[in-house]
Amino acid sequence: MIYGVDYYPEHWPAERIDKDFRLMKEADINTVRLAEFTWSLVEPEENLYRFNWLDLVLEKAVKNGLSVVMCTPTAAPPKWLMDKHPEIYPIDEYGHVRGFGSRRHYCFNNGVFRDYSKSIVREFAKRYAGNENIIAWQLDNEFGCHDTARCYCPECSKSFSLWLEKKYGDISTFNEDLGMSFWGQHYPSFESVTLPVNTVCDNKREGMFAHNPGLFLEYCRFASDSVADYAKMQVDELRKAGVDVPITHNMMGNFHDIDYFDLAEELDFVSWDCYPNLAHGSFTSFRDVSYNHDKTRGYKNAKFWVMEQSSGQGGWNYMLPTPDPRQLRLWTYQSVSHGADGIVFFRWRPCLFGTEQYWHGILNHDGTPGKRYEIVKKTGGELKKISDIATGTGTRAQTCILYSFDNTWSHSYQKHSETFNYNTLLHTIHGSLTEMGINCDVTGIDSDLSAYRLVILPAYNIVSGEDVMKLEDYVENGGHVAITFRSGNRDGSNRINGLPLPGLFSKMCGIRVVDYDAAGKSIRKVATTSGVVDAYTWCDVIEEDTAVPTARYLDGFYKGSTAASSNAFGKGMVHYIGFGTDGTSYMKLLDGIAASALVDRPPVKNVPGAEIVERADGDDRFFFVLNHNSHQVMLRLDGLFKDVLSGKQAREVLELEAFDVAVLYLIREDGEI
Ligand code: GAL
Repeated sequence: MIYGVDYYPEHWPAERIDKDFRLMKEADINTVRLAEFTWSLVEPEENLYRFNWLDLVLEKAVKNGLSVVMCTPTAAPPKWLMDKHPEIYPIDEYGHVRGFGSRRHYCFNNGVFRDYSKSIVREFAKRYAGNENIIAWQLDNEFGCHDTARCYCPECSKSFSLWLEKKYGDISTFNEDLGMSFWGQHYPSFESVTLPVNTVCDNKREGMFAHNPGLFLEYCRFASDSVADYAKMQVDELRKAGVDVPITHNMMGNFHDIDYFDLAEELDFVSWDCYPNLAHGSFTSFRDVSYNHDKTRGYKNAKFWVMEQSSGQGGWNYMLPTPDPRQLRLWTYQSVSHGADGIVFFRWRPCLFGTEQYWHGILNHDGTPGKRYEIVKKTGGELKKISDIATGTGTRAQTCILYSFDNTWSHSYQKHSETFNYNTLLHTIHGSLTEMGINCDVTGIDSDLSAYRLVILPAYNIVSGEDVMKLEDYVENGGHVAITFRSGNRDGSNRINGLPLPGLFSKMCGIRVVDYDAAGKSIRKVATTSGVVDAYTWCDVIEEDTAVPTARYLDGFYKGSTAASSNAFGKGMVHYIGFGTDGTSYMKLLDGIAASALVDRPPVKNVPGAEIVERADGDDRFFFVLNHNSHQVMLRLDGLFKDVLSGKQAREVLELEAFDVAVLYLIREDGEI
């Protein structure tokens, strides 16, 4: 198991390295990630290379038995390059240049930048390919971070035209498919197609965009492809120069500008940067973090690394709240439980200068090991004990949520109702399932669905006939599917397909949605088999064909109409949830749906604020029990277990202290000693 740190030796005197490496070894840290922002140090002038300092770091790493993840340094193009070629700077949708002074100041489509990138990547690879201590390479750093996946420069405009021409062949097909007759937007040629830049109707702050939705979707796909293509270019350079170890990239959570399924295809394994303590204000709860772990795993349906695991409070212009040091251990186990077999902490020591002076690491600013170091050390020792479990077992989910970037982009542009948010809907449903202890994969529709008992499609609006056939086949053979409102009614050009709702899903759902209410914040009461719940955001008014109703509206002009339904289809069932609601209410609905799909429940009963994640290898079942509460909890157990961490046996009840973790091995289901 990889247990590492993101290390920036370039920020400290060379004499410090030995002490750092010694402290790392003592904490059972076995890997350092290096060099992602070092282009200006390694190539201070064009074609003048200074690798000696980095060679020295590598030599010392070897001596100390530390493995290395080497990065290509393209996330920070040097000033000499930007002065020579200012056309590399990205441009925003208002035409403003996004200039020098931070990082990621480049356009993915800029030809000059691609040439310079190739050359620096090649130099790194020539120098370090074959170095036995390098176990993996990371491309760049967080592609697309700081809103940089989408650029609106002239080079992007040209590339977009070519991209469209390749896809559509002739301009009249393009105009027709995307519906340019609306507001008379016919484009005379591919060269004349504009990027979706600011128009007179746009008001980004108020969420108003007026471009053709089809054009917007194509632009999102194009921008995403540009990043994947840039990544591929780097991979090719590394491979050509003899790099033969796995290549990865550190993706981000709750980030939607790059189709990570596509990017993952260019990589040997995926990684992501996990900052549960609100690094970018993006995580709403520990369940949101779990959702992002599961989603990251789904990009390749394989184990992954956390390349930046939060190790202290964050802060750029001001400091974020300081995590309880015990949470560093808890978050590490959370990552491992969801499928990470590499944990690399960001960062080893906070920097004394630069934008991230306030971003804390394992050590303190003064370089001394404190509480955070002690907890990282304790966790390092423990992980050695469970590394066989971490590497030898897989996550086990009988339920899966299907997700697509096309839908993210389409829903982000036109969100159906004031309070609708596609990703929030996904988090909420995922959170409801995990709250019940139901582990969940989050993946793409191309995945093999046969292993799942229940497949959930929240707001799966853009869908192809082929995908629907695959789902019908899955249900006919006994699978269960749950589909929500706003599904099945758009095609790949982001056009409404004009079919009776729920469009392509009508047959399998056995219903017709005859009306709907974009309810926003207004609340409608709904009677379900598990009591009355609130509906808001969206309410579909359903009429059954072959389905049976499972919920009814108690008010609104559609009072008495069906709000949810179930339909027997082949050997399986299709459930339709026609309204938006909160996590607790989804839990009630999904509880019954999961039961009818015979989804197993864990033998550890969850309590609020805790999480149970199963890892298994055949009949060997391990339950990671994670207490995210700042108080003790008691969990009911069905069976006899051994906590691999404490070595103690547990039966009937497990007591877990605040922020504590147990890794329970199921000894006997019947609980007999
Ligand atoms: C990540 C990034 C790191 C560092 C960290 C803290 O997103 O990859 O380089 O900036 O955030 O801000």
